[in-house]
Amino acid sequence: MKFFIDSADLNEIEEAEKTIGLDGITTNPSLLAKAVLAQKERIELKEYIQKVVNSVKGDVSLETLSNDAEGMVREGRNLIQFGKNVVVKVPLTVEGLKAVRALKKENIRCNVTLCFTPNQALLAAKAGAYIVSPFVGRLDDISQNGMQIVEEIVKIYRNYKISTQVLVASVRHPIHVHQAALIGADIATIPLAVIRQLLNHPKTDEGQQRFLEDAKKVPEYERLIRK
Ligand code: E4P
Repeated sequence: MKFFIDSADLNEIEEAEKTIGLDGITTNPSLLAKAVLAQKERIELKEYIQKVVNSVKGDVSLETLSNDAEGMVREGRNLIQFGKNVVVKVPLTVEGLKAVRALKKENIRCNVTLCFTPNQALLAAKAGAYIVSPFVGRLDDISQNGMQIVEEIVKIYRNYKISTQVLVASVRHPIHVHQAALIGADIATIPLAVIRQLLNHPKTDEGQQRFLEDAKKVPEYERLIRK
Protein backbone atom coordinates (compact mmCIF):
# COMPACT_ATOMS: atom_id res chain seq x y z
CA MET A 1 0.00 0.00 0.00
CA LYS A 2 1.27 3.47 -0.88
CA PHE A 3 1.46 6.04 1.92
CA PHE A 4 0.43 9.60 1.03
CA ILE A 5 0.19 12.53 3.40
CA ASP A 6 -3.14 14.36 3.48
CA SER A 7 -1.75 17.86 3.87
CA ALA A 8 -0.62 21.00 2.06
CA ASP A 9 1.63 22.06 4.96
CA LEU A 10 5.29 22.07 3.89
CA ASN A 11 6.57 21.41 7.44
CA GLU A 12 4.23 18.43 7.84
CA ILE A 13 5.23 17.09 4.43
CA GLU A 14 8.93 17.39 5.31
CA GLU A 15 8.48 15.60 8.65
CA ALA A 16 6.53 12.74 7.05
CA GLU A 17 8.99 12.43 4.14
CA LYS A 18 11.92 12.14 6.59
CA THR A 19 10.23 9.59 8.82
CA ILE A 20 8.15 7.26 6.65
CA GLY A 21 9.13 8.37 3.12
CA LEU A 22 6.11 9.54 1.16
CA ASP A 23 4.67 8.00 -1.98
CA GLY A 24 2.56 11.10 -2.66
CA ILE A 25 0.43 13.94 -1.33
CA THR A 26 -3.25 14.80 -1.42
CA THR A 27 -4.45 18.34 -0.98
CA ASN A 28 -7.88 19.93 -1.14
CA PRO A 29 -8.94 23.60 -0.95
CA SER A 30 -9.52 23.35 2.84
CA LEU A 31 -6.04 21.91 3.47
CA LEU A 32 -4.43 24.45 1.15
CA ALA A 33 -6.19 27.39 2.82
CA LYS A 34 -5.16 26.13 6.28
CA ALA A 35 -1.51 25.72 5.26
CA VAL A 36 -1.24 29.03 3.43
CA LEU A 37 -2.95 31.03 6.20
CA ALA A 38 -0.58 29.47 8.77
CA GLN A 39 2.48 30.88 6.95
CA LYS A 40 4.22 33.53 9.07
CA GLU A 41 5.78 35.26 6.09
CA ARG A 42 3.80 36.18 3.01
CA ILE A 43 4.55 33.86 0.13
CA GLU A 44 3.22 33.89 -3.43
CA LEU A 45 0.57 31.17 -3.71
CA LYS A 46 2.05 29.95 -7.01
CA GLU A 47 5.47 29.60 -5.39
CA TYR A 48 3.95 27.82 -2.38
CA ILE A 49 2.07 25.26 -4.50
CA GLN A 50 5.21 24.68 -6.57
CA LYS A 51 7.10 23.82 -3.39
CA VAL A 52 4.40 21.33 -2.39
CA VAL A 53 4.49 19.69 -5.83
CA ASN A 54 8.31 19.52 -5.81
CA SER A 55 8.52 18.11 -2.29
CA VAL A 56 7.93 14.48 -3.36
CA LYS A 57 8.62 12.37 -6.43
CA GLY A 58 5.20 10.71 -6.30
CA ASP A 59 1.74 11.92 -7.25
CA VAL A 60 0.41 15.20 -5.84
CA SER A 61 -3.34 15.78 -6.10
CA LEU A 62 -4.44 19.39 -6.63
CA GLU A 63 -8.15 20.14 -6.68
CA THR A 64 -10.26 22.01 -9.23
CA LEU A 65 -12.86 24.57 -8.12
CA SER A 66 -15.42 24.80 -10.94
CA ASN A 67 -18.81 23.12 -10.83
CA ASP A 68 -18.99 22.64 -14.61
CA ALA A 69 -16.95 20.20 -16.69
CA GLU A 70 -15.59 22.86 -19.00
CA GLY A 71 -14.22 24.85 -16.05
CA MET A 72 -12.71 21.73 -14.44
CA VAL A 73 -10.97 20.83 -17.70
CA ARG A 74 -9.55 24.34 -18.02
CA GLU A 75 -8.36 24.30 -14.40
CA GLY A 76 -6.95 20.79 -14.82
CA ARG A 77 -4.83 21.94 -17.76
CA ASN A 78 -3.52 24.82 -15.61
CA LEU A 79 -2.85 22.62 -12.56
CA ILE A 80 -0.68 20.15 -14.46
CA GLN A 81 1.68 23.02 -15.33
CA PHE A 82 3.02 22.64 -11.77
CA GLY A 83 4.59 19.30 -12.63
CA LYS A 84 4.34 15.91 -14.28
CA ASN A 85 3.44 14.37 -10.92
CA VAL A 86 0.25 16.45 -10.57
CA VAL A 87 -3.03 14.54 -10.50
CA VAL A 88 -6.14 16.67 -11.06
CA LYS A 89 -8.76 16.25 -8.37
CA VAL A 90 -12.37 16.56 -9.48
CA PRO A 91 -15.57 15.89 -7.49
CA LEU A 92 -17.66 12.80 -8.09
CA THR A 93 -20.49 14.68 -9.79
CA VAL A 94 -22.06 14.42 -13.25
CA GLU A 95 -19.90 17.34 -14.41
CA GLY A 96 -16.87 15.87 -12.66
CA LEU A 97 -17.16 12.61 -14.59
CA LYS A 98 -17.55 14.52 -17.87
CA ALA A 99 -14.34 16.34 -17.00
CA VAL A 100 -12.54 13.04 -16.23
CA ARG A 101 -13.46 11.76 -19.72
CA ALA A 102 -12.27 14.95 -21.42
CA LEU A 103 -9.02 15.15 -19.41
CA LYS A 104 -8.27 11.46 -20.03
CA LYS A 105 -8.33 12.16 -23.78
CA GLU A 106 -5.48 14.62 -23.11
CA ASN A 107 -3.67 12.02 -20.96
CA ILE A 108 -4.31 14.10 -17.84
CA ARG A 109 -4.77 11.90 -14.77
CA CYS A 110 -7.69 12.48 -12.41
CA ASN A 111 -8.32 11.69 -8.76
CA VAL A 112 -12.11 11.53 -8.39
CA THR A 113 -12.83 12.78 -4.91
CA LEU A 114 -15.82 12.85 -2.53
CA CYS A 115 -16.74 9.24 -3.29
CA PHE A 116 -19.21 7.71 -0.84
CA THR A 117 -20.65 4.60 -2.54
CA PRO A 118 -19.34 1.62 -4.55
CA ASN A 119 -21.63 2.59 -7.45
CA GLN A 120 -20.06 6.04 -7.60
CA ALA A 121 -16.62 4.39 -7.61
CA LEU A 122 -17.65 2.09 -10.46
CA LEU A 123 -18.83 5.08 -12.52
CA ALA A 124 -15.61 6.98 -11.79
CA ALA A 125 -13.60 4.02 -13.04
CA LYS A 126 -15.72 3.73 -16.19
CA ALA A 127 -15.11 7.43 -16.86
CA GLY A 128 -11.36 6.74 -16.74
CA ALA A 129 -10.35 7.87 -13.25
CA TYR A 130 -6.70 7.24 -12.36
CA ILE A 131 -7.58 7.33 -8.64
CA VAL A 132 -10.88 7.19 -6.76
CA SER A 133 -11.08 8.57 -3.21
CA PRO A 134 -13.68 7.10 -0.84
CA PHE A 135 -13.97 9.27 2.31
CA VAL A 136 -14.10 6.80 5.19
CA GLY A 137 -14.08 9.22 8.14
CA ARG A 138 -16.94 11.31 6.80
CA LEU A 139 -19.03 8.13 6.36
CA ASP A 140 -18.21 7.02 9.92
CA ASP A 141 -19.33 10.50 11.05
CA ILE A 142 -22.87 9.77 9.82
CA SER A 143 -22.93 6.26 11.34
CA GLN A 144 -22.10 4.43 8.11
CA ASN A 145 -19.21 2.00 7.83
CA GLY A 146 -16.59 3.80 5.72
CA MET A 147 -14.20 0.86 5.52
CA GLN A 148 -16.96 -1.45 4.30
CA ILE A 149 -17.40 0.84 1.28
CA VAL A 150 -13.66 0.58 0.59
CA GLU A 151 -13.82 -3.22 0.87
CA GLU A 152 -16.67 -3.36 -1.64
CA ILE A 153 -14.96 -0.98 -4.09
CA VAL A 154 -11.75 -3.04 -3.99
CA LYS A 155 -13.77 -6.23 -4.59
CA ILE A 156 -15.72 -4.73 -7.50
CA TYR A 157 -12.54 -3.39 -9.11
CA ARG A 158 -10.91 -6.83 -8.76
CA ASN A 159 -14.00 -8.53 -10.27
CA TYR A 160 -13.56 -6.51 -13.45
CA LYS A 161 -9.77 -6.05 -13.40
CA ILE A 162 -10.23 -2.28 -13.17
CA SER A 163 -6.93 -0.42 -12.90
CA THR A 164 -8.26 2.72 -11.12
CA GLN A 165 -6.41 3.00 -7.80
CA VAL A 166 -8.44 3.03 -4.59
CA LEU A 167 -7.20 5.80 -2.29
CA VAL A 168 -8.57 5.68 1.25
CA ALA A 169 -9.26 9.30 2.22
CA SER A 170 -10.64 11.06 5.29
CA VAL A 171 -8.51 8.81 7.49
CA ARG A 172 -9.00 9.61 11.17
CA HIS A 173 -7.04 6.98 13.14
CA PRO A 174 -4.55 4.08 12.78
CA ILE A 175 -7.33 1.46 12.58
CA HIS A 176 -8.41 2.97 9.25
CA VAL A 177 -4.85 2.47 7.94
CA HIS A 178 -4.65 -1.09 9.27
CA GLN A 179 -7.98 -2.00 7.68
CA ALA A 180 -7.05 -0.32 4.39
CA ALA A 181 -3.93 -2.51 4.18
CA LEU A 182 -5.86 -5.69 5.07
CA ILE A 183 -8.44 -4.94 2.39
CA GLY A 184 -5.69 -4.29 -0.16
CA ALA A 185 -6.44 -0.64 -0.96
CA ASP A 186 -3.80 0.86 -3.24
CA ILE A 187 -3.20 4.05 -1.26
CA ALA A 188 -3.99 5.53 2.15
CA THR A 189 -3.70 9.29 2.51
CA ILE A 190 -2.98 10.05 6.13
CA PRO A 191 -2.86 13.24 8.20
CA LEU A 192 0.46 13.81 10.03
CA ALA A 193 -1.15 13.29 13.46
CA VAL A 194 -2.19 9.76 12.41
CA ILE A 195 1.23 9.04 10.86
CA ARG A 196 2.75 9.85 14.26
CA GLN A 197 0.24 7.54 15.96
CA LEU A 198 1.17 4.72 13.57
CA LEU A 199 4.80 4.94 14.64
CA ASN A 200 4.39 5.17 18.39
CA HIS A 201 3.87 2.33 20.84
CA PRO A 202 4.39 2.52 24.63
CA LYS A 203 5.95 -0.98 24.69
CA THR A 204 8.55 0.17 22.12
CA ASP A 205 9.49 3.16 24.33
CA GLU A 206 9.53 1.02 27.47
CA GLY A 207 11.64 -1.69 25.81
CA GLN A 208 14.17 0.83 24.48
CA GLN A 209 14.46 2.44 27.91
CA ARG A 210 15.17 -0.93 29.52
CA PHE A 211 17.84 -1.84 26.89
CA LEU A 212 19.65 1.44 27.55
CA GLU A 213 19.57 0.92 31.31
CA ASP A 214 20.87 -2.66 30.99
CA ALA A 215 23.64 -1.47 28.65
CA LYS A 216 25.07 0.61 31.50
CA LYS A 217 25.99 -2.69 33.20
CA VAL A 218 28.51 -3.37 30.39
CA PRO A 219 30.14 0.07 29.78
CA GLU A 220 32.77 -1.48 27.43
CA TYR A 221 29.97 -2.11 24.92
CA GLU A 222 29.20 1.60 24.68
CA ARG A 223 32.88 2.50 24.37
CA LEU A 224 33.34 -0.15 21.66
CA ILE A 225 30.52 0.98 19.40
CA ARG A 226 30.96 4.72 19.93
CA LYS A 227 34.71 4.89 19.28
C1 E4P B 1 -8.18 13.71 0.58
O1 E4P B 1 -8.03 13.56 -0.59
C2 E4P B 1 -9.41 14.29 1.17
O2 E4P B 1 -9.64 15.54 0.66
C3 E4P B 1 -9.29 14.29 2.68
O3 E4P B 1 -8.80 13.04 3.10
C4 E4P B 1 -10.57 14.65 3.39
O4 E4P B 1 -10.40 14.44 4.77
P1 E4P B 1 -11.40 15.03 5.88
O5 E4P B 1 -12.69 14.30 5.77
O6 E4P B 1 -10.69 14.75 7.17
O7 E4P B 1 -11.54 16.48 5.58
